[in-house]
Amino acid sequence: MLKKIVLLFFSLFLAFNIVQRLPSNEVKSETINSPISAVPTQTPFPDAHNVPPPGWTGRVFKLSQNYPTAMPLAENYPWKQFNLKTQPVQYLNAVLRYGLEGNIQQDFDVRSNNVRKWYHAPNMHLNQESGREFIRGLTKERTSEKFKLHPSQNKRVQNWAVSFYNAPGGFIIGKVWADHENPKRQFAIFPEGTVAIKLLFTQADQTLVPYLAGSLVWEADIFRKTTTVIKPQELHLLQIDIAVRDTDTDATTGWVFGTFIYNANRPGATVWERLVPIGLMYGNDPTKYPFSSNTNLTETVYNPNLATEKPAGYNEFQGFNKRLNGPVDNPKSSCLSCHSTSQIPETVKPIPPPGQEPTYFRNIKAGQPFSPGSISLDYSLQLQVGLGNFTQEKRIEKNNFKILPEFFPIGRDGKIIKGFKFLGQTH
Ligand code: HEC
Repeated sequence: MLKKIVLLFFSLFLAFNIVQRLPSNEVKSETINSPISAVPTQTPFPDAHNVPPPGWTGRVFKLSQNYPTAMPLAENYPWKQFNLKTQPVQYLNAVLRYGLEGNIQQDFDVRSNNVRKWYHAPNMHLNQESGREFIRGLTKERTSEKFKLHPSQNKRVQNWAVSFYNAPGGFIIGKVWADHENPKRQFAIFPEGTVAIKLLFTQADQTLVPYLAGSLVWEADIFRKTTTVIKPQELHLLQIDIAVRDTDTDATTGWVFGTFIYNANRPGATVWERLVPIGLMYGNDPTKYPFSSNTNLTETVYNPNLATEKPAGYNEFQGFNKRLNGPVDNPKSSCLSCHSTSQIPETVKPIPPPGQEPTYFRNIKAGQPFSPGSISLDYSLQLQVGLGNFTQEKRIEKNNFKILPEFFPIGRDGKIIKGFKFLGQTH
């Protein structure tokens, strides 16, 4: 009897010790919804890849990184009053209005929005070529080859973008990155009502792409690699992307992705009124086989007036077999297909290798990984890019390929996945 009691106490003591020793990266009592547990004061994340040069008097980007420390209260989100399957345009416009409200007035310094605050994903500055530039916080996107945007676009043009998340999204980003040196990727599960908005700008102007006349112009430092003198370039707003975590679509992916294109020839007094909703998708239509002959998708819903509202001379907006995609995205993919690959550690190619379409056009539910055994980053590619950059930086800093193995793009064979590149290569 005494032996048993001693043994019991000994095992309790052991168990207690093990719990104490769990690496700080483990979820203990902290759950996804619980407030962020106290962490020592952190050095702020850098705003951009470069600091402004001496004497710079222009605009300077500030990363919105005062993430909420507790889960924001649920709101009556304006898009929820619409049926996204039968009223895609109303749904999309409601999300866009919510995303622009208060941000236009502050010229997209989303920290000082008086209606609601928005937040940026950190560690996207780290890449020399494509990391955040210092004027607007833009990161480099897929380049548009000649004639992709319009028959008169006779040069390749670069595209750059910035995204921001609302408070529910900002809370999760802040929770993943609460300890700046020890990110907790297992918290990357976004709550209902999370919204991310992405503004996408192109180097093309109206002489190359006539429907860009009168669009929003931003200056950005996109050539830092080739010159020491800062010569800001003018970029033009081409596309706006949205992503919404909406439980009404839990039967497919739980996410709604949608996109808009600017069209100079639409009526409307402001740039914002001349944005044309292209459509939305809430699933990849995985049952529509064979992919090649299928035209009647149900999980991609286009603006029914797209043919008359889209800019003249612009056709390339569709993804794989008419699934939704944006004007500058890779047409072999779709919004949800590419974003479903966001996971750690096993990073797969974002675009389907030939023959793998059935794997890439599955409906993966929110919070589920693309590959079994990996941790999902819940459709957020900005989290994946930030975590990837961070790991690469650590690896260079410590000259050690073995640290933080959980962040490496390592396949189950233990080898670093060939051809994996961070940021800028994935679109
Ligand atoms: C082939 C890959 C690919 C496709 C297709 C794609 N995206 Fe993305 N998207 C990315 C990458 C990579 C990022 C993160 C880096 C960045 O922001 O540039 C991103 C970022 C975003 C963000 C910011 C939040 C986040 O999830 O990281 C939104 C919103 C977004 N995309 C919406 C869309 C929409 C809407 C479509 C379709 C119209 C789309 N994307 C198509 C690769 C893709």
